[in-house]
Order: sequence, then C-alpha cells, then structure tokens
Amino acid sequence: MSKNIIVTGGAGYIGSHTVVELVKFGFNPIIIDNFSNSSSSAIENIEKICKKKIDFFDLNCIDKLKMNNSINWKKIDGIIHFAALKSVSESFEKKEKYFTNNIESTKILLNICEVYNIKKFVFSSSCTVYGNPNNLPVTEKTELKKPSSPYGETKKICEEMIKTSQIKNFIILRYFNPIGAHESALIGEHPLNIPNNLVPLICECAIGKREKLTIYGNDYPTRDGTCIRDYIHVCDVAQAHVYAFKKMNTKTTRKIFNIGLSKGISVLELINLFEKNNNIKINYEFGKRREGDIEEIFANCSLAEKELNWSPKKTIQKALIDAWRWEQKKLN
Ligand code: UFG
Repeated sequence: MSKNIIVTGGAGYIGSHTVVELVKFGFNPIIIDNFSNSSSSAIENIEKICKKKIDFFDLNCIDKLKMNNSINWKKIDGIIHFAALKSVSESFEKKEKYFTNNIESTKILLNICEVYNIKKFVFSSSCTVYGNPNNLPVTEKTELKKPSSPYGETKKICEEMIKTSQIKNFIILRYFNPIGAHESALIGEHPLNIPNNLVPLICECAIGKREKLTIYGNDYPTRDGTCIRDYIHVCDVAQAHVYAFKKMNTKTTRKIFNIGLSKGISVLELINLFEKNNNIKINYEFGKRREGDIEEIFANCSLAEKELNWSPKKTIQKALIDAWRWEQKKLN
C-alpha cells in the first residue's frame, strides 16, 4: 500500500484540500511548494484540521538539482503534481513563463519517478484540454481541440508527456470548475494576486472588497446568454485523488478521468444560487466577453464513478455556502 505521497503545490487551493483528504484516508502526504501563489499559513491550517504535523519542503519544482537532492525519494511511493501557474489571462502575456514552468516541472518529476522507481503519478489537468467541444457533456473520449489559452496548451502537452512516459501507473484528472472551501473555513482559495475565477470574485463583492462583478458576456447562445460551466465542491475534487491512489494500489492503471459534478450551470444561475443560499445580494453588470472563454462545457463523469468508485457528495449550494464562510474568515 502506498503511504508516502509527495504533493507538489500542496499549499495551494486544490492541493491543500487534497492533503487533508489524504491524511483522512491514512496516507502520509509530504508537501512541496514554493508559495508563489499560496501562503505557508495554509500548511499550519491543514495541520489544525488534521491534528497532525505535515512535512513540507519549500522548493521550486523546476529546480532540478534541489528537487533531486532535498528529498529522500527512495521512501516515496507516489506523486501528485499540482504545482503550476494557472492564470488563463496571465498565460497570454507570459506564454514562455507558463511553458517553462508547467512543462519543465512535469518533466523533472517524471524523470525522478524513473530514476527512483516511483510507480504512481497523479496529474492535475483541466477540462481546458477539450477546448471548445462540439458535443456535450464531454467524456474522456471527446476529441481534444486546441485549448483556448497557453495555460491550456501546457496542460495538454503535459498529459502527452505522461502518456508517453515509462511510468507504470498514472492517473490524469481533468477537473472542471472546483469551488468552495473546507467546511472548517481554515483552508480555501487564496490567490496572492487579484482573483480571476468567478466564485472568489463573487465573494469579494459580497464582502464589499469589490463594488461590482462584471459578467463577461450575456450574448452567448445559452439559456440566459451567460457561459455555462460544471462547478464542483473542491473537497469532492480532493477526494478523487485518494480514489486514484486506491485504484493504483490494486491495479496497474494508466488512465484519464473527468472530475466534475456533471451539471451545467450558467454564470447568472450561479450568482442567483449564491444570493439565495447566503442571503446576500451581489451587485453585477454585464460586460464584454473575455478572451479565451468558451460558451459551454460540462462533464460526463461516469468513467470515474465506475472505475475509481468516486462520486461527488456535495452540492453546489453547499460549495457556495462554504466559499462564503471562507471569505468571511480568511485573513487578508
Ligand atoms: N466570469 C465572469 N466574470 C468574472 C469572472 C468569471 O463572468 O469576473 C465567468 C467567465 O466568463 C466564465 C465563468 O465565469 O464563464 C467561470 O470563469 P472562471 O474564470 O471561474 O473559470 P473558467 O471556466 O474560465 O476557467 C477554469 C479554470 C481554468 C481552466 C478552465 C477550463 O480557472 O484553470 O476552467 O475551462 F483552464
């Protein structure tokens, strides 16, 4: 049974929730993070939730020498690779930085797996690899179109590298839109710069940090003119990683899984749900479309349900309540 799992980006949004789930299910996660878009207080808060000390290394995954020398890799059973630059808009301006960082780190980790005979690898991918899909919902067999951003391209290239690598077991998880926070409100989404994603921005409006939300486009060919996404509670996304390891512990697996709630929700519907469930009004206006946005995407996750034995347990309503609780509690 795999116990010692390296979690790169373990202080980040999905990473920190995954570390909590790994501990809950008896694994020993070890975090690597350079805190470029996270804070070390996340680790203290993970420890509070888990009531356990968590080992961590302050390392940049593209520093090959330090990565090789700082960790006793012979004791590591598996790796979950979250660490990546993830701002879609920034990736247009700093394409090279995104390519170097996201691709190089994956290359270095795959090499470490080979050198130290680490047999299990989970990769944090995104539904962005489907580009603008022709048919919905998307399954893992849906044709991959050109991703709409350089960020998306890096994910697609990394997936390809993993598929053609020598690694014995890998699971690539294509997340849809993770939202919400741990119900303790000790960890959640905490970007160091201005948030790009919808729910943190809604929360900033709700708390008064931002005057109003701009909805990017209301002229899409959807039921209310706003874009449709598949939002899923981050704790459900985190649990998928545990199920991925459980699967690889029992059977050699080299597979890709969609991780979403399998429901398409529009921007306006999400705002309405936030208002209703948290009893607070959001001030918004309609603005121009955002470059790179696709009109509609949601998942079919029956493969993960069947083969990983994973299914989401939490509703969007719960995710929005947890997101708001986190916004009110987090230290800024
Ligand atoms: N949106 C607004 N106003 C905002 C922010 C977002 O209207 O201020 C809209 C977007 O146009 C989009 C929806 O809210 O329709 C969701 O936007 P997010 O930025 O939260 O999420 P995206 O679906 O655009 O991006 C997410 C991840 C990416 C990933 C992508 C895959 O953040 O990492 O899904 O499709 F690449």
